[in-house]
Amino acid sequence: MEPERRWLRLRYIAGVMVMFASLLFSLAASKSGDSPTVQDLYESLESRMGYWLILGNTRHCGLYRKGQISPFPIAKAQRAMEEKMYMRLNLKPGSKVLDAGAGSGFVAIYMARKGLSVQAVDITPHHLADAKKNVKKHHLEDKITVDYGDYHDLDALPDASFDGIYTMETFVHADDPAKVLNNFYRLLKPGGVIVFHEADVVRLSEKFHHIMRLSHCQNTLKQGGYEKLIKDAGFINFTLEDLTEEVLPLWRFFGILGYLPYQLFKLLGIQDRFINVMAGVESWMNWGDGRYISVRAVKA
Ligand SMILES: C[S@@+](CC[C@H](N)C(=O)[O-])C[C@H]1O[C@@H](n2cnc3c(N)ncnc32)[C@H](O)[C@@H]1O
Repeated sequence: MEPERRWLRLRYIAGVMVMFASLLFSLAASKSGDSPTVQDLYESLESRMGYWLILGNTRHCGLYRKGQISPFPIAKAQRAMEEKMYMRLNLKPGSKVLDAGAGSGFVAIYMARKGLSVQAVDITPHHLADAKKNVKKHHLEDKITVDYGDYHDLDALPDASFDGIYTMETFVHADDPAKVLNNFYRLLKPGGVIVFHEADVVRLSEKFHHIMRLSHCQNTLKQGGYEKLIKDAGFINFTLEDLTEEVLPLWRFFGILGYLPYQLFKLLGIQDRFINVMAGVESWMNWGDGRYISVRAVKA
């Protein structure tokens, strides 16, 4: 067995054990209710362990060849997704970019290694702590700054101060997507670029709406929504690439990995407490109800 697979199997067993432990914990201490905040979502033991065990603390999908079955090695596919983002930004070395919702900082680190100067913001305390630690570990403090920042409220940052702004699987959490876009428009220099790697909704079932609410993604845009909102904010040269097929290997893996625990959680009526497992399995079982897209536009 390949070392990565053996390691993943061990991590899977550890993950299932941790889920049961977290079940006991969450039964006693769940505070998220029906409308969790972003921080509730990412602070939960399930999220922390899931991202750590499966995604190496990087909180975004991998990009695969169309038709590929195996999701391994996951880290390589995640770097491919970061490369895709970098290519879509299409900025000269030395350009200044805002990473809005930077998580543990791995996308920022990729961009900095490519020569961009990155200002990274996030609202989740342990992600900020991780990002700072990771930037330091990679000796990139001169290329990346990490600060608390909510993309709904970026008044502290001056107008026209960035050549590019990107969100990697973050904008789906926006409470007010139009307000965020207006902020990004203000912060960009004329000719500056936005790139979003996000999901949108093709068919919205009641179950999906419930999952989106529990994962604080209740305002995820419907198909066509990005184009309208982005143009309404004043951006031009809108392009969209549908990458749904190219992220399927990882989501299929999530679906298979989570299937048995999810069925058990459903039997016990506690599936809402394991939102990542539920989202992974339901997304795979209803593949096609949503898309994974890369959206790009330019400030006029
Ligand atoms: C799925 S994670 C992606 C993290 C990172 N972009 C990556 O690819 O690894 C979503 C991130 O968005 C952040 N986030 C959500 N709402 C935000 C907001 N209003 N302002 C800034 N960051 C936000 C979360 O804290 C979380 O770190």
